[in-house]
Amino acid sequence: MILSGQPIAQDIYTRLAHLAEKSNTQPYGAVIVVGENPDLLRYVQQKQKWAASIGFHFEKIHLPESVSQWALIDTIQKLNINPDIHGYILQLPLPKHLDVQRILPYIDPKKDIDGFCPVNQGKIVLGYTDGFQACTPKGIMKLFEYYDISLLGKDITVIGRSMIVGKPLSHLLTNAWATVTLCHSHTKNISFFTKNADIVIIAIGQPHFLKKEMLKKNAVVIDVGFCVRDGKIFWDADFENISPLWHDITPVPGGVGPLTVACLLENLREAFQKKEESR
Ligand code: GUN
Repeated sequence: MILSGQPIAQDIYTRLAHLAEKSNTQPYGAVIVVGENPDLLRYVQQKQKWAASIGFHFEKIHLPESVSQWALIDTIQKLNINPDIHGYILQLPLPKHLDVQRILPYIDPKKDIDGFCPVNQGKIVLGYTDGFQACTPKGIMKLFEYYDISLLGKDITVIGRSMIVGKPLSHLLTNAWATVTLCHSHTKNISFFTKNADIVIIAIGQPHFLKKEMLKKNAVVIDVGFCVRDGKIFWDADFENISPLWHDITPVPGGVGPLTVACLLENLREAFQKKEESR
């Protein structure tokens, strides 16, 4: 089976657009983007496009590559106290001179629709459900639910320990009673862990890293990572090599990708709703 994210994303957009139609006021989000990396600017544009398509506002705050750590934190603090902004994100990665670990704690957890600040990441670890979940892990959990893939007691190998995907996802899966192994670039024998897994989720940005020889028969494959080499996109799983006859697998593109933006806008709507309810 091919595990497309499109129908799930479409359901989310339809629901959010319907809610927007019924309301006089709309969610207002923002994205801070630093520098001129064309890939980042394209992702930001996509987020704005999808937001506009369902009637949400999503403002771009574009800071120069040379912005100082304190000027960036100042921008964040202004968004925190701006009553018109319901939620915002800091587009990552940042230029090298900026320390993301020192910046994220300044994001107000109630406006942190990317779910990256320490409070929201910590809530996932502890199993609280009232924080914002990082969008890609949240989307992957929706994928399992939509395709009725049970997680209870499953052996799941996650490859990649990023705070954007691997770490929060491994905790969401653990909370759903899966047995999770989190592998990374210093794992001694990744094949050992993938060959024993019922589900393999890969998010490392290494072209065609995951091959059929590394999987047990009928294992589910969720391919999250990609990288661009010579203008061509390569995904982490060798899709041509892994047969959908034997494996439920996400297509690329059209697997997890569409769900990330849909979940971001779902989080923005939630931030908006909480604000309205607290009036
Ligand atoms: N960079 C890669 N993925 C993401 C994401 O989901 N949010 C942000 N802000 N930056 C990213």
